[in-house]
Amino acid sequence: MKEYWQEELETMKRPDLEKLQVERLKKTVELAMNSPFYGNIFKERKITPESIKSLEDLQRFPFTVKDDLRSHYPFGLSSVPLEKVVRLHSSSGTTGNPTVILHTQKDLDEWANQVARCMYMVGVRNTDVFQNTSGYGMFTGGLGFQYGAERLGALTVPAAAGNSRRQIKFIMDFGTTAVHAIPSYATRLAEVFMEMGIDPRKDTKLKTMFIGAEPHSEEQRKRIEQLFGVKAYNSFGMSEMNGPGVAFECKEQNGLHIWEDYVIVEIVNPVTLEPVKDGEIGEMVLTTINREAMPLFRYRTRDLTCIIPGDCPCGRTHRRIARIKGRSDDMMIVKGVNIFPIQIEKILMNFKELGMNYLITIETIENNDEMLVEVELGDTVRVDDYALLQNLTKAITHQLKDEILLTPKVKLVERGTLPQSDGKAVRVKDLRKNH
Ligand code: COA
Ligand code: AMP
Ligand code: ZN
Repeated sequence: MKEYWQEELETMKRPDLEKLQVERLKKTVELAMNSPFYGNIFKERKITPESIKSLEDLQRFPFTVKDDLRSHYPFGLSSVPLEKVVRLHSSSGTTGNPTVILHTQKDLDEWANQVARCMYMVGVRNTDVFQNTSGYGMFTGGLGFQYGAERLGALTVPAAAGNSRRQIKFIMDFGTTAVHAIPSYATRLAEVFMEMGIDPRKDTKLKTMFIGAEPHSEEQRKRIEQLFGVKAYNSFGMSEMNGPGVAFECKEQNGLHIWEDYVIVEIVNPVTLEPVKDGEIGEMVLTTINREAMPLFRYRTRDLTCIIPGDCPCGRTHRRIARIKGRSDDMMIVKGVNIFPIQIEKILMNFKELGMNYLITIETIENNDEMLVEVELGDTVRVDDYALLQNLTKAITHQLKDEILLTPKVKLVERGTLPQSDGKAVRVKDLRKNH
């Protein structure tokens, strides 16, 4: 069994690590010249592998944004022939096309290595039983953690999302020691444990939890640790950067090591796009330097964080980012699903029976995050036409679920009931405790 404490890489001296980054950046440029998207940009800007001398040269690259991925959907950013691509993952865009990320077999192997490295860092071994409550399929938290844990040699339980009682039965029957769950779902799971009269602190073998995929506070982490009697580690990932494994907390639980042999990290002011100093909050910008099928240069993640200054006592030299503080766009994350308000608006506006005014409220109800979509009726609908209202509510709910992958509660209200606002309407009320 290969060990996943990759000491040589994880504790590399900074000058050596930066040298490795430059080498990998050159290689990545060479690959990306084949992509229709970057090929043109590189020609215009005279970017060639030979012209890359230091990390400073990264400043010659333009930023890449989510819209670039959408407008070159599905294969316009591919750097390799499609015969070499073995998997794609897709996540929701704002409107129109989703975004697509392509992987070669080597990309998938490297990704599994990254996740295995993260899990090993906090003590998971091949003797552990690992249960994953992420959605599988397109959600990268599913297959991402799955392959990482298998690579480590842990016994893996791909339980997938939902069905909390069954999750708990698995935890009990299989002697699960480590669980991956988004923080809001961890709290829900704790409640179901309680309903079943089982104390996860005493009656299970749980010792480690991986929590991520949505913003959460230190207080929420502590609460999860107390509820389950585990250590809970913050896991950061995003589909555009493969998925989980990008940055992960070590046992110090003080910031997430971002694997700099895989990505080059910059933190910039989201307005001026100028770099900010270590310790200052800005938008994280990432460049992949170990991916073949679809390299991304200076990708604007929209996630707000900072580099934690100083060395980590664990000895790893890869820098640490602070927990994510928010976003520089209006993306919401509900039940681990990314949603842009415009996706909801687009559906609502297709119903001729509806007016223009709507309000999205997100609330934690009985430890479950719920989304309520209130929308005003148009002039043509009578508010006492119950049969019509019922059918309409059903149809809207159905279409919304297709678009945003979770079930909102839809409430049709009389015209003039919702608050009106001049100019930029306040469309989203997020009442969740940890947001
Ligand atoms: N992860 C796992 N299970 C979740 C969850 C989450 N993020 N959010 C809710 N659930 C559970 C609920 O507790 C419920 O199970 P229970 O009633 O047995 O306790 C079940 O899923 C259905 O939830 P509900 O709120 O009724 O359904 P929905 O239609 O609104 O949402 C989900 C459907 C939960 C399946 C969908 O939102 C999903 O797949 N979320 C997971 C996304 C994910 O994995 N993201 C990580 C990316 S790295
Ligand atoms: P996805 O592409 O669906 O995996 O979603 C990625 C987004 O989820 C990121 O850009 C972040 O906004 C959010 N996210 C992922 N991990 C975390 C985390 N640990 N803390 C806060 N937000 C996170
Ligand atoms: Zn550390």
